[in-house]
Amino acid sequence: FLRSGWLLLLVPFLLAGCDGRQSVLVDGGADARILTDLFWVMLTGAVVLWIGMNGLFYWATRRSPAPHSQRMANWLVILGGILFPTLTLGALLVYGLTLMPDLRATGDGPVIRVTGEQWWWRVDYTRDDGSIVTTANEIRLPAGVRSTFLLDSKKVIHSFWVPSLGGKMDMFPGRVTEMTLGPERPGIYRGQCAEFCGESHAWMAFEAEVMAPEAFEAWLDAEAAPAVAPTSAEAGRGAALFLSQGCGACHAVRGTPATGRVGPDLTHVGSRHSLAAGRLGTSVEDFAKWVANPGAWKPGAEMPAYDHLTDAQIGAIAAYLEGLE
Ligand code: CUA
Repeated sequence: FLRSGWLLLLVPFLLAGCDGRQSVLVDGGADARILTDLFWVMLTGAVVLWIGMNGLFYWATRRSPAPHSQRMANWLVILGGILFPTLTLGALLVYGLTLMPDLRATGDGPVIRVTGEQWWWRVDYTRDDGSIVTTANEIRLPAGVRSTFLLDSKKVIHSFWVPSLGGKMDMFPGRVTEMTLGPERPGIYRGQCAEFCGESHAWMAFEAEVMAPEAFEAWLDAEAAPAVAPTSAEAGRGAALFLSQGCGACHAVRGTPATGRVGPDLTHVGSRHSLAAGRLGTSVEDFAKWVANPGAWKPGAEMPAYDHLTDAQIGAIAAYLEGLE
C-alpha cells in the first residue's frame, strides 16, 4: 500500500473535475442540496467502513497473533458481521427514504415536456392559455418555483440529468415519466444525457438556464413570437434556399412555410447558446459547418449533409439561421 501511496497525490487532480457547471456538488437549488448532503453522508459512511474493515483485516492477519479464543471469534462475527452492517446500512436506508418526499414535491411552476431524440432534446412549454411553445436543446426555468418535467423519448431510452439542479430520470419511448425540479440560484447549468443511447450519446447535452421569474416570462413571450424576417440580402437568399432545399420538411420556422416536426424547431435558433445539443456554438461559421456536414460533428445524426451546395449558398443559409433571434 505504501509503495502505491503516491497515487493518492492524484486525487486532487481528479477532484478538480468536480467543479463547474455540471457538478452534483455545485447546488443550484434545494434538490441538488439534498443530493449533495446524501453524497457526503454516504461517502463518510463508506470511509468509516473502509477504515474499520482494513483495521480488522490487519488485526486478524498479524504475523504473530495472540491466540484468539473461540468465544471472541463468535462475538466478532455477531457484532462485526451481522449487527454492525445491519445497523449502518439500515440507518443509511432510513436516512435516504426520509429525503424522498422533498425530492418528489409537486410542481407549482411551468410544465415542460422534454422528448429525447437522436441526439438532441425537443422542449415544449405549455403556457397558461394552453398554447405550446417549442424549442430545442435549451431549457429555461424560473428560479424559486418547482417546474414539472414530462419526459419521454422517440426511439430509445435516454436519461435527463442536470447534476447541479437535482436527480436524473430515464426517458422511455411510449411512456411519460415525471419529475419536478426547484432551482433557486439563477445561472447556466449543463445537462447531459445519462443513458447510453447510441453513437452520439456523448454529444447529447443541453443547457438549463435558471432565470428570475420576470425574465423567464419575457423570454417565453419572445419565444412564442413568430420568426423575424431576414435582415440582410444574404440572409434573404438563405431563407429562400432553406425552403427550396426542403429544410422546411423537417424543421419549423414559425411564421414561414417551414412547418416540419422531424428536427429541432429553428424559429429562434439564433438566440440559443449552442447548436446541435451543445456540439457547436451559434456563430455563422458554426451554422455553416453544421449544414455542410452534420455527421462530421455528430456521428449518426439524422440530418443529411448538404455538401452539394456551394460555400456561398451554405453561407447564406447560415446567415439566415444565425439571424433567427
Ligand atoms: Cu441520449 Cu444518451
